[in-house]
Amino acid sequence: MSYDPSESTGTGTTLWRDGWPVYDRGATVCVIGAGPSGLTAVKNLKEAGFGVDCYERETSVGGGWNWRHDRSPVYASTHLISSKPLTQFPDFPMPDDWPDYPHHSRVLSYLDHYADHFDLKPHIWFGTEVVKVEPADGGTWDVTTRSTSKYGGAERIHRYAGVMVANGHNWSPKMPAYEGLEDFRGEVIHAGAYKDAAQLRGRRVLVVGGGNTGCDIAVEAAQQATRCWHSTRRGYWYTPKYLLGRPADQVNDQMLALRVPFRVRQWFAQRTLGVTVGDTTRFGLPKPDHKLFQSHPVVNSQLLYYVGHGGIAPVPEIVRFQRNSVELKNGETVEPDLVVLATGYVPRFEFLEPELLGIDGQGRPRLYLHTFPRRFPTLAVAGLVQPDAGVFPMAHWQAVAFALYLRAREVAPQRAAAFGRRIEAEANWSWHDGATTDSTRHWFEVSHVTYLRELQKAIDTLEGAR
Ligand SMILES: Cc1cc2nc3c(=O)[nH]c(=O)nc-3n(C[C@H](O)[C@H](O)[C@H](O)COP(=O)(O)OP(=O)(O)OC[C@H]3O[C@@H](n4cnc5c(N)ncnc54)[C@H](O)[C@@H]3O)c2cc1C
Ligand SMILES: NC(=O)c1ccc[n+]([C@@H]2O[C@H](COP(=O)([O-])OP(=O)(O)OC[C@H]3O[C@@H](n4cnc5c(N)ncnc54)[C@H](OP(=O)(O)O)[C@@H]3O)[C@@H](O)[C@H]2O)c1
Repeated sequence: MSYDPSESTGTGTTLWRDGWPVYDRGATVCVIGAGPSGLTAVKNLKEAGFGVDCYERETSVGGGWNWRHDRSPVYASTHLISSKPLTQFPDFPMPDDWPDYPHHSRVLSYLDHYADHFDLKPHIWFGTEVVKVEPADGGTWDVTTRSTSKYGGAERIHRYAGVMVANGHNWSPKMPAYEGLEDFRGEVIHAGAYKDAAQLRGRRVLVVGGGNTGCDIAVEAAQQATRCWHSTRRGYWYTPKYLLGRPADQVNDQMLALRVPFRVRQWFAQRTLGVTVGDTTRFGLPKPDHKLFQSHPVVNSQLLYYVGHGGIAPVPEIVRFQRNSVELKNGETVEPDLVVLATGYVPRFEFLEPELLGIDGQGRPRLYLHTFPRRFPTLAVAGLVQPDAGVFPMAHWQAVAFALYLRAREVAPQRAAAFGRRIEAEANWSWHDGATTDSTRHWFEVSHVTYLRELQKAIDTLEGAR
């Protein structure tokens, strides 16, 4: 089979699976999701000469950045925490007159322009959900889709030469189990259902979780709620959005560009925070139980301000819920009428058998560069990373590497084999500088420079440059 884009229009129904017709899409590649990662997958596969069909369950592009989407995790006040130059796609800069940290509505408009500029929308089947992806003959995949409209008709199966999964990993709530929760009379929501500060107005709010979401919501509660308790199970390093007059990620990036060794960078950044932010235990916050860079960065300039003004009361972990109150680890009880669980998200790939992505008993996929499964070279995942910078450039280069891999399998099998051996040989499974705290939230944590360097090596192998 050769990757001739002209073949990609084939929709013959000569094939069958379990009594259902299979529409053969020939050399076309399927992309699942039209968020930032799916869009860049469509663009880069298309540029490499592949026919591409993308399925998106929602009715427009943008993924999580489109807050009208059912499963979008963004709330009215969300701004980027990774600054503009470290977030934008490498071949499509954000406008020069935009601020360092654009609002989510601007990020959506940027993604919409990206889709238009590269003419991606004609490739997307909107309102179409992928419900099953199964291996078929010779490395091909049978993809079952159904319309999300209630008048959408039956499921359909299409056969593809390859599949890039870009379904996002920040939409399925991670819900902690608490004793007594079912008897609690207040309202309990996950942060995924938090959209607007009006939900907090005039209420007694307990926010759980010290990630970026938990800190953002605690700051909003400090301004809107009558009380705000912020419960974390450990102390964190709270990095302000600006350090030394620059976006904080750019300061870190500058040191990385100068190849400052990790330990020196860690020491310097901790000292800088020590001098600028100071000792956070003075505010009643728990001391971090880890060094800086050992936990996903929390970037928030306002949390300490509101703790310092009494708007946020830091409290420890929840022990159990009672009918009208919540008992904390220090023996104290608080009486919120709204509890917001900002406890993060879990990855979900219900349309794939777990072994295809090497998913273990906990639900964690084992993929080379969080992208390539061991035994299925025509399958890959885009965007399954949590970096100390923006996600978009990583998804871009992941898609470039996947396109090169598919192409190499046809035109340079020895390069493809070399890349396959690289995947097989991988024993590390982490592209993060130094250790991270033991938490499921760090499954996909990467240090962006280390990660991109390894991805560059993969691309070099596939291009025959090493
Ligand atoms: C509050 C918040 C703020 C963030 N801030 C930043 C930031 O500052 N910088 C940054 O780089 N990242 C940030 N992120 C991370 C964010 O997840 C990524 O920026 C980005 O949205 C990931 O893109 P994606 O395409 O991989 O996933 P998503 O944006 O989640 O898109 C996935 C798409 O796939 C579709 N889909 C899923 N399953 C199916 C299916 N079965 N069939 C068809 N379609 C399907 C979904 O409808 C969705 O459109 C933030 C995340 C959150 C929660
Ligand atoms: N642009 C922005 O402004 C912005 C805003 C929000 C989020 N984001 C991004 O979105 C992603 C998700 O962030 P997130 O904050 O929603 O999730 P997260 O980073 O996974 O943080 C979850 C928080 O909840 C805590 N937690 C988890 N399970 C718990 C339990 N059972 N009991 C008590 N605490 C528990 C975690 O503690 P441990 O540390 O102990 O695990 C952590 O503090 C991240 O990449 C983040 O950077 C960006």
